Amino acid sequence: MKTIRILAIETSCDETAAAVVERDPHGCPLVRSNVVFAQLKEHAAFGGVVPEIAARAHLSVLDTVILAALDEAGCGLDEIDAIAATAGPGLIGGLMVGLMTAKGLAASLSKPFLAINHLEGHALTARLTDQVDYPYLLLLVSGGHTQILEVAGLGDYRRIATTIDDALGEAFDKTAKLLSLGFPGGPAVEVAARGGDPHRFHLPHPLKGQDTLNFSFSGLKTAIRTLAQDLAPLDDKTVGDLCASFQRTVAEIVSDRARRAMTEFAENHPGLENRVLVVAGGVSANQEIRASLLEASSSQGWQFVAPPLALCGDNAAMIGWAAADRFAAGETSNPDFAPRSRWPLDGDTVPIIGSGRRGPKA
Ligand code: KG4
Ligand code: ZN
Repeated sequence: MKTIRILAIETSCDETAAAVVERDPHGCPLVRSNVVFAQLKEHAAFGGVVPEIAARAHLSVLDTVILAALDEAGCGLDEIDAIAATAGPGLIGGLMVGLMTAKGLAASLSKPFLAINHLEGHALTARLTDQVDYPYLLLLVSGGHTQILEVAGLGDYRRIATTIDDALGEAFDKTAKLLSLGFPGGPAVEVAARGGDPHRFHLPHPLKGQDTLNFSFSGLKTAIRTLAQDLAPLDDKTVGDLCASFQRTVAEIVSDRARRAMTEFAENHPGLENRVLVVAGGVSANQEIRASLLEASSSQGWQFVAPPLALCGDNAAMIGWAAADRFAAGETSNPDFAPRSRWPLDGDTVPIIGSGRRGPKA
């Protein structure tokens, strides 16, 4: 088998992205280019992603982004083996733009086309960056998802836990909105939390002590809203203390669930020598959450893998890598593959509100 070269497109939310990714015959990856255009100013005035604006913005910049990715990779379309695009889950208008572009390119060049699950892109990023072996434990924390999964192989995912209400990224975004910190909320809360007192406010730990690994964040958001109303007008110190307290609380919740999931995973895989906890998705950029997960995994003798910051948020390199793995396994998609707003990684699990679906991040 020769080296496979994929042109990948990602347009499922508010990042317009294209990348050229290679997979050599030994399965080793090479990201030749990874171009991301973040639609920040398009949505800033609305305090969150507006689906219709996102779709139109993808349409106006996607061809430029694709040309930039090819240029950065130093290759032409004739040197690409297959074209891939995110087909879901995500905002349907944006998915249509990326998917139709990929299908059109593939048809006009007589190249294979692959429809890729966005969550699989996040799930396999650790194999792209750190060649992590299967099986591993994955904490997927993004604007639309908060899940713990066992990744047993390509396309072989078992959901262990999910959120029963808000996703963690959504909780960050809503907290930022309540405190008028702007959009996108996650990085803004992290910056505001610096120097804040993480112990000034005692926020609820929803589902604490219950026999579940699931997450719940809506009570936290309500607590922040009540505090913000009671303490109004808010000065910078109070906003910093609220953000630091919120961040400490969610880091505690996430590392508590990860600890318990690691124990369960270890019991289910008694012979496995190298146990790895992987974090992925936009929220995995958060330094306090990374630090608390690192501590949780080292205390149980596990390896911890977190993507470099450029690959935490949405990007097309992760889509290209998932596509390369699938193409190497002999898979391509039909040209009539339709975009899916909901597309859970683990098709066997009972749907819970929010799982497998991505909406606007705020
Ligand atoms: O994976 P992603 O780019 O898009 C989705 O698939 O949803 O994740 C975006 C989410 C947003 O909610 C954003 O606020 C959050 O990730 N995020 C962060 C940080 N950077 C991005 N949350 C906390 N701390 C950060 N530094
Ligand atoms: Zn994502």
